[in-house]
Amino acid sequence: MPDAVSDALDLVAAWAGRPVTATTIKGGLSHRIARVETEDGDRWLLRVLDPRIAEVGLGIPLDQEIANTVHAASTGVGAQVLHIMPGALVLEYIDGPTLDNPAVRDGIGEIALTCRALHQAPPFVNDFSIFRKLEQLVGVCRANDLTLPHGYAECLSYARDIEAALDARPLPAVPCHNDLLAENFIAGPSGIRIVDYQLSGNNDPRFELGDLAAEADFDPDDVARLAHAYFGHGAHIPDVRLYLIMSNLTWTLWFVIHDKLVGASHVGGAFDYSAEAADKFAQAVRDISAPDFGRLIDGRTSPPH
Ligand SMILES: Nc1ncnc2c1ncn2[C@@H]1O[C@H](COP(=O)(O)OP(=O)(O)O)[C@@H](O)[C@H]1O
Ligand SMILES: [Mg+2]
Repeated sequence: MPDAVSDALDLVAAWAGRPVTATTIKGGLSHRIARVETEDGDRWLLRVLDPRIAEVGLGIPLDQEIANTVHAASTGVGAQVLHIMPGALVLEYIDGPTLDNPAVRDGIGEIALTCRALHQAPPFVNDFSIFRKLEQLVGVCRANDLTLPHGYAECLSYARDIEAALDARPLPAVPCHNDLLAENFIAGPSGIRIVDYQLSGNNDPRFELGDLAAEADFDPDDVARLAHAYFGHGAHIPDVRLYLIMSNLTWTLWFVIHDKLVGASHVGGAFDYSAEAADKFAQAVRDISAPDFGRLIDGRTSPPH
């Protein structure tokens, strides 16, 4: 049991007024997560935040993450926040399976509705732009002499083209999760819930969809289904696909930085961060080099085939 969890456990027991035991939950890539139980059957989720994640730009500042977690709980989408401790949270334990990519693909309709429920709430405490995050992560790499993947610097001009295209057809910012990988969805008894607000902030909802699609390896037909389920029409499909590219391009550096600066001693130690970086970058290059990239920039999808 890592020290951070043991220390927090004493505080949880003091809050609960009863002894508690903890079982580490693996699967997250950033923080220390444990299921905490009492003898009489109460169960909670303990999330001990690792300050290094925010320090190297891989998450928003911890105070913002905590405020947004409370906010997301009030929408019913996030887990209820039961107790806030220094650098750690006790959350409602959501009973149900964590999704995987096939489950995300099968659940597109319900996931779109869950995103809408989060997005319709009042704003989060901070804004988030994937373009500013890209600049920040490039800066972290340069400041720490981390080697960018071969060909990465050349791709940055495409990110600028994408930003200019999207700026020309803006949508209002809404409170977004911004990190909708399958492991952050739990199919709870009352429906799909979203956990882990480490990158949350007010953002373009088309990024939320594009990022979700990138993480679950959606093909263009899946992206179209997701955009229709969320918007009720297909007008934003090219922009969701542009944001899918931005997700792969930017989160490539998330994994480069995690690999080199946070390190293998971390909770996700068995996970191959470097291979994940290479995989995401290869997908970004594939989509930037595809024949229909220019059409997406112009706001059009491919002709039907
Ligand atoms: N409130 C919760 N109830 C039940 N399981 C949870 C809860 N929060 C997280 N989990 C489980 O723990 C895993 C890791 O948690 P997460 O908050 O995503 O950590 P990380 O920031 O490290 O990714 C999730 O993928 C999910 O399986
Ligand atoms: Mg997570």
